[in-house]
Amino acid sequence: MDSLKEEKNLEESLYERALKVLPGGISRNVIFRQPHPHYVASAHGCYVEDVNGITRIDFVNNIASLVHGHAHPAIVKAVYEQLQKGTAYSMGTEAEIRHAETLCHRVPGFEKIRFMNSGTEAVMSLIKASRAYTGKHKIAKAEGAYHGSYDFAEVSESASPDNWGPVEQPNSVPHVRNTPPSVLDEVIVFPYNDVERTLAILDRHADEIACVLIDPVPHRIGMIRATDEFVEAVYDWTRKHNTLMAFDEVVCFRINYEGAQALYRVKPDLTALGKLIGGGFPVGALTGKAEIMDVLNPLQTPLRFSLSGTFSANPITMTAGRVAVEMFDKQAVDKVNHLAQEAKEQLMQAAKIAGIPLSVAGAGSMMKMHFRETLPSNYRECYEDANHKKTVNTFLDFMYDHGIILVYSNSCFFSTVMKQEHIDKLSETALEGFKFIKPLLNV
Ligand SMILES: Cc1ncc(COP(=O)(O)O)c(C=O)c1O
Repeated sequence: MDSLKEEKNLEESLYERALKVLPGGISRNVIFRQPHPHYVASAHGCYVEDVNGITRIDFVNNIASLVHGHAHPAIVKAVYEQLQKGTAYSMGTEAEIRHAETLCHRVPGFEKIRFMNSGTEAVMSLIKASRAYTGKHKIAKAEGAYHGSYDFAEVSESASPDNWGPVEQPNSVPHVRNTPPSVLDEVIVFPYNDVERTLAILDRHADEIACVLIDPVPHRIGMIRATDEFVEAVYDWTRKHNTLMAFDEVVCFRINYEGAQALYRVKPDLTALGKLIGGGFPVGALTGKAEIMDVLNPLQTPLRFSLSGTFSANPITMTAGRVAVEMFDKQAVDKVNHLAQEAKEQLMQAAKIAGIPLSVAGAGSMMKMHFRETLPSNYRECYEDANHKKTVNTFLDFMYDHGIILVYSNSCFFSTVMKQEHIDKLSETALEGFKFIKPLLNV
């Protein structure tokens, strides 16, 4: 199989310039690569062309935010029309009302919605709204779960064997150096999908927790779906303790027409959204029960949670996002989920032929490959040591050099513009990649 590897002069010279003005030469750690990041010239549909003129199939889609691929003509057209009328005003727009109507009419639990500019802000607002509504200030979150960069949300997202403590009572581990101890004290950490231990931990803080935050398909916890039993047990606990049940669907909203919450018998009180609902532009949203969302309502006295944002609900994001969500109708959801299922089966087959262990996690149009026979079931089980990370990176580099862009975590977020031919190319290339890394897996 021919490699696309070539002279990387252009990327090298861009990186040299970047290093002089950006810490580490990057603006977001997720694009960091050695010896240098990759640089894009343009992208259309499911193809990305780099600055050296090499085109690859993109299974990242800006980490799940471009469900219709790059530069979708319907989104480009709608945004272009709005661009000519202005990009941001300090007044309301019909664009934000239309987008709010689209989302609230789509999911029964989305009674009211407030837009912001990132998933981080959405989770931050969710936590603040929970505190404002319940009058309590602690939150509970799963060890290893990523919810963006708000101080409280990032506690224990990078816990490791040397600091995570006993599984019966995981430590609240700072993610950023010198995080105030008071922040750590406010975050209760539980082991994901472990009903018994989680309930015991929650019980120890029964009167203090404003919300239990769950991502039902957490990217950083192996992309393993929260079990019905776990979600229902936590939900029942929250009903008894005046605590809100909160879902982070910033990524996993894509897995079902009505979001991940449609898969469960019980529904969250509040949901954080982002990514796909911005149609390729920065976005976040907090949504849920009207009575709870009313903490944001300035018609109420006293106003419990005052929230502004210079670019929140700007008409570019609102227009692009609405068009993207409208196009992501039931048929589109089924189509992309079917493609992901097909990819999963083909990859399993390829692993069998190559003779390497593989299990594939995920739901709907998101998928993560694990180089092991069976899926891990919690964060500690899917924690990868340096050696394993090196093997994964070798595989990712092989795929990249042969025309396939995967997420750094060995994952794919599929887009509606993909076809069977792209899935075939993924599994054909992966077969060669699996053979390439086989010696590193000691099988
Ligand atoms: C589950 C989850 N929540 C929140 C966020 C934060 O979103 P943003 O990067 O838009 O701030 C992310 C980002 O990847 C995410 O995966």
